[in-house]
This record gives sequence, C-alpha cells and structure tokens, in this order.
Amino acid sequence: MGELNRRRLLKAGGALSALGAMTVAAPSTAWSWSPAGSVAGTGAGLDPRWVWDDPVDSLIADVIDRGDAQLVNDSMKRWIYNGQAVPSGAPADVQEFMNSAIQLPAWADLEKLDVAFDFCEKWGLYLGVLYGMNSGMMSTAIPREARAVYYSKGGWDLKDRISKTAKLGKDIGDHHAYRSDGKMSVTCARTRMTHAGVRHLLPQSPHWVAAADEEIPISQRDIMVTWHSLASSVWQKLMEWDIDVPDDEAEAYLHLWQVTASMLGVLDEYIPATWADALAQREQILVPLLGATPEGIKLADMLLDLGKNLDATLVTRPVLESFTRYMLGNKITDSLKIPRHFILDPTIRTGWPIFVKIREFGLNLPLSEKLYWTFEELIRVVVLIYMSEGIEPILIDIPTANNPN
Ligand code: HEM
Repeated sequence: MGELNRRRLLKAGGALSALGAMTVAAPSTAWSWSPAGSVAGTGAGLDPRWVWDDPVDSLIADVIDRGDAQLVNDSMKRWIYNGQAVPSGAPADVQEFMNSAIQLPAWADLEKLDVAFDFCEKWGLYLGVLYGMNSGMMSTAIPREARAVYYSKGGWDLKDRISKTAKLGKDIGDHHAYRSDGKMSVTCARTRMTHAGVRHLLPQSPHWVAAADEEIPISQRDIMVTWHSLASSVWQKLMEWDIDVPDDEAEAYLHLWQVTASMLGVLDEYIPATWADALAQREQILVPLLGATPEGIKLADMLLDLGKNLDATLVTRPVLESFTRYMLGNKITDSLKIPRHFILDPTIRTGWPIFVKIREFGLNLPLSEKLYWTFEELIRVVVLIYMSEGIEPILIDIPTANNPN
C-alpha cells in the first residue's frame, strides 16, 4: 500500500469511527470479493473503497496547485494516438506519468483485442444504445457518481461532459483501440488525470462536501461500480436479448473491458477474470446501491432533455423515459422521478425484444411499422447524443474548477 493510501486509510478510519460503528458494519458496504476471481488470481483482499490512484493523484494535485494544469492541457491538444510520443510541452514529471500510463498490462492480449473489435463492429448499434440508455441513465442512480458528476465542472456543462465520456465509448470500440494507431491508451491516461483532478478539487467544493458521504471521491471500488454499469450491465442485456455471441468474441469483449479497467488505474486483484465472476461482482457492488439522490434526479432530467434539439420526430422525451424504464426497471426509474406512461411503457417493454429478433434473426414477428421505425430512430438519436459522431476533436482535460452552482 502506498504512503498516500495509508494516510487516507487512517484519515478515513477516523471519519468512520466518528460516524459510529453502524456505518462500518453496514452490510452493503462490506467487501467480500475474493481476489481468486480476479485477473490476478490472488491479492490482499483489501476493500478498494480505500484505494485510489496514488501514482497520479499526488502528481495532478501538485500540477493544479502550482498552476500548471492549463499548460498540461495545452500540451495535450494534439496527443491523441497511442503510438505518438507523449507531449514534449508537458512538465517532466507529467511526461513520466504519461509514459508509464500508456503501457498495457503484461496480460493484455492484442490478438484477443482484435477479436473484440469484430464484436463491437457487429453489435455497435446496440452497444451505442446500451452505453447511452442503460449505462448512461444508470450512472444517475449510482449515488457517489451522481454527486461527483453533479458538483464537478461536468455537472455544470453536461453536454460537454457527455461528449467527453462518449469519446471513451467510441474509442473503445474502434479498430486497434489499444494498438499504436488506436486511441484508447491515451484516452485512459487522460481520464486518469481527469479523475485525479476531480479527487483533488471536489473536496474543495462546499456543495459536494455537504452532500457527500466520503472524503475523497472515485475510489477503485467506485470505478469498478461504474465499470459494471458499463461492461457487465451491457453484457447482461445482450444475453437477455438472446444475442448469439460466439465464445471467442464473448471472451474478447470482456478482455477489452478488463484492459480498460487496468488502464484506468484499477489493480488487477479487483478486475474480474470471467463473465461469471464479473456478474457476481456486479450483484455485490453495483445492484444494492442503485437508487436516487437529489443530484441523480436532476442529472437524469437533464440527460432526458438532451435529445430535444435533435431533428427527431418519433423519439420524444416520453419515448426516452419509457426506454429508460425498460432498461432500469420500475424501482430505479420511479426513484429517479421519471414519469410512467401507461401505453408507451408496456409497448416498449414488449416491442423492443421483438424488434431485436426481427433485426437479428429476420424473424417474421408482429410489430407495427411505426414502432419498428421508432426503434430504428431511437438507435440513431441515442448514437447522435452519446457517440458524438463527427464532433472530434473532443479533448479530455485536467479540470481546473468545480461546478460553481
Ligand atoms: C471524467 C470515464 C468512473 C466521476 C471522466 C471522463 C471519462 C470518464 C472519459 C472524461 C470526461 C470529462 O472530462 O468530463 C470513466 C469510466 C469510469 C469512470 C470509463 C469507470 C469505468 C468514474 C467514477 C466517478 C467518476 C466512479 C465518480 C464516482 C467523474 C467525474 C469526471 C469524470 C466527476 C469529471 C467531470 C468533469 O468535471 O467534466 N470519466 N469514469 N468517474 N469522471 Fe469518470
């Protein structure tokens, strides 16, 4: 354990004892994940709730405090591809971090990652819809993430935030994502720097401090929670829709997300080894905490409004609301105060699986033409909102401020 983590553990331990034993003993916060099910296969089994990202956290805190964040951001403007040299205009200590951050873990298998590209290409449209309407809406029901996003700069300019997050969603599915002509290693390194900046800045936001139940945001446990809202929640839906994924592609898609977790700074002992391990970890750490916060309710409302300026006649806000309900279920959707639609909700719930079967398997199933085209339009709209096609370059930067509101 690094010195910084040790200090944080002690500090957080003090804060916890002040809150009383009840918080410490709360079963939903207990970490029972065995590292035997991880890519490392072994580990200390420490709760990643108390593990952050030492190599970059102290560096970026210092960069922000010494007034170098803008210099680093300017130097990164043309740093896009994995094979590029790291920006020479960045300070030497930052260059050193960048060089280490773009190295793939020893267990990364580039050929497997090429197979993952086939998977992403084949099911790219569903992945777009799932990253947007499933993972994106679910993120508003993850309390710590909702608070962090709402009170950071991203909560102030949600459209910008979405396009930056969508950049990762797009780069991960690109050809050669982790080879030298791809972009993911750089995107992840930049995201680690952004997260480090958030860890330094949010504790200075009186709004976040008043709302948060923690002292430092974005622990490795939080990152894995979000990882499950992406990787394993998407996987679960594809299985629910009976998408016939060959074994090698299933394994490769998992590998893509395992490598991504590692490149985002997560230790190997927390990264699930198989889909079964991933789904089990998801049940333990994501599912029990899903629910609304005042910040999440506002973010969900803002997200559902993002489609309103697009030229989409069939996909109205009620359609997006019903689709969210179909993705997240009644309990979470009700908690986010998203209204029920008594005709649309069951229509979408029964219509979408039929639509997928018609699309995938060419089955002759009954579905009204209007509903079919509404779903096609939904794919287009969600891809437009979330996948940011054609709005390059999108630059993921070190934040220099919080949400002022
Ligand atoms: C920023 C991805 C986990 C909170 C970002 C960005 C990306 C990203 C691509 C850059 C976009 C931007 O600058 O707005 C991810 C991925 C995660 C993850 C793939 C896990 C697999 C988390 C978690 C939290 C979080 C767990 C909070 C608990 C934030 C915040 C920002 C950010 C607050 C900065 C927003 C801003 O000020 O603009 N993340 N993130 N992220 N992330 Fe994450």
